[in-house]
Amino acid sequence: MKANDSKRKVLVTGGTGYIGSHACLSLHEAGFEPVLIDNLCNSSRRVLPRLQELSGQSFTFYEGDIRDRELLRSIFAAHQPWAVMHFAGLKAVGESVAEPERYHANNVEGTESLLQAMAEAGVQRLVFSSSATVYGDPDLVPIAESAPRRTTNPYGQNKLDIEHMLERLAAADERWRIACLRYFNPAGAHASGRLGEDPNGIPNNLMPYISQVAVGRRPQLDVFGDDYDTPDGTGVRDYIHVMDLVEGHVAALEHLQQANGFIPVNLGTGAGLSVLELRAAFAAASGQDIPYRIQPRRPGDIAASWADPSRAKALLGWQAKRNVRELCADAWRWQHNNPQGYDSE
Ligand code: NAD
Ligand code: UD1
Repeated sequence: MKANDSKRKVLVTGGTGYIGSHACLSLHEAGFEPVLIDNLCNSSRRVLPRLQELSGQSFTFYEGDIRDRELLRSIFAAHQPWAVMHFAGLKAVGESVAEPERYHANNVEGTESLLQAMAEAGVQRLVFSSSATVYGDPDLVPIAESAPRRTTNPYGQNKLDIEHMLERLAAADERWRIACLRYFNPAGAHASGRLGEDPNGIPNNLMPYISQVAVGRRPQLDVFGDDYDTPDGTGVRDYIHVMDLVEGHVAALEHLQQANGFIPVNLGTGAGLSVLELRAAFAAASGQDIPYRIQPRRPGDIAASWADPSRAKALLGWQAKRNVRELCADAWRWQHNNPQGYDSE
């Protein structure tokens, strides 16, 4: 190990985003030094002073796009990162259907640009944000990493294209060490209430929508379908606390010290919760009423998805520790203290 290994730098793309910002804290706590790049297309610069407040450190931040090859070259030259955590990307499924080319250019070509810069700089450790969306509508739950991959929308196709690209790289050059983390449904916030999810406009995802109803920003929750083949008829998902998720990333990074190749790993809790169960848990944790009405199914939705998380435990020594009560309590603290997200102060 080199002398500076005690403070290994990790380039975090999408570092001011929801998951990237929490990952920066986790990296810092584990003794790594995050270096952030983000073009701020879906996040706020106001994350940075909050990270400083929570970590006691000012992290280096580059405002820029991962498709800017010159910028990437200069960042790799200046910092010689030990590894990269790649969160940058566009993630709204509906938007990806409306604008597939923009999604491909940003997500797939953006990743190509990053991989090129990494190869040139000789940095070949990567933790990539994939998604359970690559399993499409699964034949079986819980879903193992060996399940067939198929997609139902351009966003999912971007993730699949990137996974294939990463597999080809690892097959061609054994120096690549790539943890491909397939997230189930990240939710919740840092326990301090200072970092959390701050979506633009109307939230697409269930948890931020419920939080905004609880805080009075929206009148009621629309439950998309109550006629699925699930115990209460509403969709079932595997909600994983964002801090558990990012701790899984740090465990994956540590694993890359000893493993090479393309390593797909599910990050989920292994348990499913229905829309109505999550709503009830949030109402209990927040003490707020959360009115709802049943609406038709959302096109493209699946009935049930939850992870088989056994590979993460066996390979990374990681498993989710936080329960749904904690998840809702942390999400509520964030929402209550920051009703307008990062624009609240
Ligand atoms: P987010 O939108 O909060 O964070 C992504 C960040 O990337 C944003 O800050 C955005 O400004 C930045 N960005 C986007 N394109 C960029 C570009 N070309 N150059 C530089 N920065 C760019 O989203 P998130 O929830 O934190 O998701 C992070 C990653 O995890 C994404 O790749 C997403 O697809 C993946 N993922 C998220 C979920 C989820 O439910 N949140 C689930 C599965 C996978
Ligand atoms: C969505 C994306 C998926 C992505 C995942 C994590 C779609 C079709 N799929 O999946 O590609 O990987 O987020 O980011 O967008 N629900 C309501 N009311 C709401 C919102 C959601 O009832 O206002 C229900 C949904 O029907 C679903 C559950 O809540 O049953 C979870 O929805 P959501 O949070 O959007 O996640 P996914 O559907 O898993």
